[in-house]
Amino acid sequence: MKMWLIALLLVSVTHTHAEYSSLQAILSQKGLQKVTHWLTDWVQDNLSNITPPDIKGKAFLFGYTLHSMSIQRCDLPEPIISFLEGTGVSLQVTGLSAVITGKWNSRFGFTTDSGEFELVMFNVGFKSLLKLGSDRERLSISTVICSSDVESVQMNFSGGKSFLYKLFVKLFNRGVKQMVQGQICTDIKAGVNGLESHLAAMPVAMMVDPNVYMNISLTDSPLVKNSGLGLNVKGEFYSFKCPTEPPFHPSHFEMPWQKDYMVSVGASEFCVNSAAFAYHHAGVLNIHITDDMIPKACPIHLNTSQFKNLIPELPKKYPDMLMELQLYTTDTPLFSVKKSVILANVSTSVKAFAIKTNYVAIPLFRLDMETSFIFKVYIDKQLVKGMLVMKNLTVTLGASEIGKFQTEPIQHALKSVMTSFVLPKVNAQLKDGIQLPFVKYFSLKNSVLTIEDGFLALATDINGPDSGNL
Ligand SMILES: *[C@@H]1O[C@H](CO)[C@@H](O)[C@H](O)[C@H]1NC(C)=O
Ligand SMILES: *[C@@H]1O[C@H](CO)[C@@H](O)[C@H](O)[C@H]1NC(C)=O
Ligand SMILES: *[C@@H]1O[C@H](CO)[C@@H](O)[C@H](O)[C@H]1NC(C)=O
Ligand SMILES: *[C@@H]1O[C@H](CO)[C@@H](O)[C@H](O)[C@H]1NC(C)=O
Ligand SMILES: *[C@@H]1O[C@H](CO)[C@@H](O)[C@H](O)[C@H]1NC(C)=O
Ligand SMILES: *[C@@H]1O[C@H](CO)[C@@H](O)[C@H](O)[C@H]1NC(C)=O
Repeated sequence: MKMWLIALLLVSVTHTHAEYSSLQAILSQKGLQKVTHWLTDWVQDNLSNITPPDIKGKAFLFGYTLHSMSIQRCDLPEPIISFLEGTGVSLQVTGLSAVITGKWNSRFGFTTDSGEFELVMFNVGFKSLLKLGSDRERLSISTVICSSDVESVQMNFSGGKSFLYKLFVKLFNRGVKQMVQGQICTDIKAGVNGLESHLAAMPVAMMVDPNVYMNISLTDSPLVKNSGLGLNVKGEFYSFKCPTEPPFHPSHFEMPWQKDYMVSVGASEFCVNSAAFAYHHAGVLNIHITDDMIPKACPIHLNTSQFKNLIPELPKKYPDMLMELQLYTTDTPLFSVKKSVILANVSTSVKAFAIKTNYVAIPLFRLDMETSFIFKVYIDKQLVKGMLVMKNLTVTLGASEIGKFQTEPIQHALKSVMTSFVLPKVNAQLKDGIQLPFVKYFSLKNSVLTIEDGFLALATDINGPDSGNL
């Protein structure tokens, strides 16, 4: 009985332990305004493609439908939008005018009639408060308040033939302002509900490449401040092949809110290490090296004869044969993100084979290597640039089919190959920079990448799509 109680307590303790996020994203008030601006432009450009929903109504025995509506003209003023601390987003539009044309159908008993109409609205406004929350670890959105106001509406009908036509027109002109006014919030709520069903259907796992995915579920409710919206995301990588938890754990980090940039994104040390863990477990940190991959100028070549100074035993046993190497990580590469630098420890092994003329590979030996690097990364001219320095490299003999041999000469040679061939090549590429990955039609500008204590932080503005490209 007591054991049972302890077990229950343990379960409840582990369940109440809040999960730490390892990816954080902030959309500032400046970012929200920009997004709203793009959406307003998009709506304005696409009015002719927007079909207002049909309106059906009934008054006593009289039923009617307004359908096939299209927006002929619309002056859509830029909405006033802002975050509201603790709640969500407040949205206000004033001074909207529009002309809509469409068709009407009416029915009174067995009598039906139909025709066209034109509707002109002046000075329409609405105010809405949208709540941002979370539901099943996803962002959720709902309408809390919506109110609308219409200064005037004019509706002209044509085409009616029946005796009911006059009745129909009369009925409408009396109530059309109220109907339009009510319809605005109905449409806004329907739009927000549509957005909410999209969010609810969004997967909480994002495929990064065919080997790994990232869990992007929210660890907390979104944090809404007057200066922006903060999302705490789990941000843990898993390999598809072997989606296990790593032996290390996330720790708390808090990204600073940068209200001068539209968007900020922070990734913790745990996020980086979980990616390394996932790729290591996916078995992709594994390369096969053949001699033709090695530049001519390199002092070490994969030919047993050329190893006579490094491993004298090798050419004696297998003279003049081509060699191949299998290089792979033996453990998860571990990164530590310290103020301004990233330190990395990488454990690898390299298996060497001699290749017979009939392509049969003869195993020779396995070297185990511990390498530590210092890595700097920054953004310059919108390109990610960096610098890699090798701090230490130790080589030990893991296994040998050709008898024991000293590894110091190899360690020495590898160090010089790394510092005079591999790293200069890598650093030349890192200095040229890598394009920041981003979504179609959008690009980053004014980006700043910093290495903080325990996390990497990117603060950036976003260049919008050229008009018509969203
Ligand atoms: C409706 O018809 C009246 C009179 O024919 C006209 O003055 C008015 O401009 C029309 N309004 C619209 C919205 O077509
Ligand atoms: C993502 O993480 C959450 C929280 O730990 C978990 O409930 C969910 O099942 C995970 N989803 C996937 C697809 O890994
Ligand atoms: C190995 O290198 C020697 C010279 O260093 C060369 O003569 C020989 O052809 C090479 N062997 C193979 C298999 O490429
Ligand atoms: C790398 O290894 C060194 C020495 O073993 C250790 O002090 C350091 O904490 C390790 N760094 C990381 C990032 O694991
Ligand atoms: C390199 O690593 C080895 C063991 O991993 C350690 O004994 C040695 O002190 C390290 N050298 C430097 C310069 O850090
Ligand atoms: C929106 O309008 C642009 C041109 O202004 C057009 O290229 C685009 O296809 C439209 N999008 C939709 C969804 O209709």
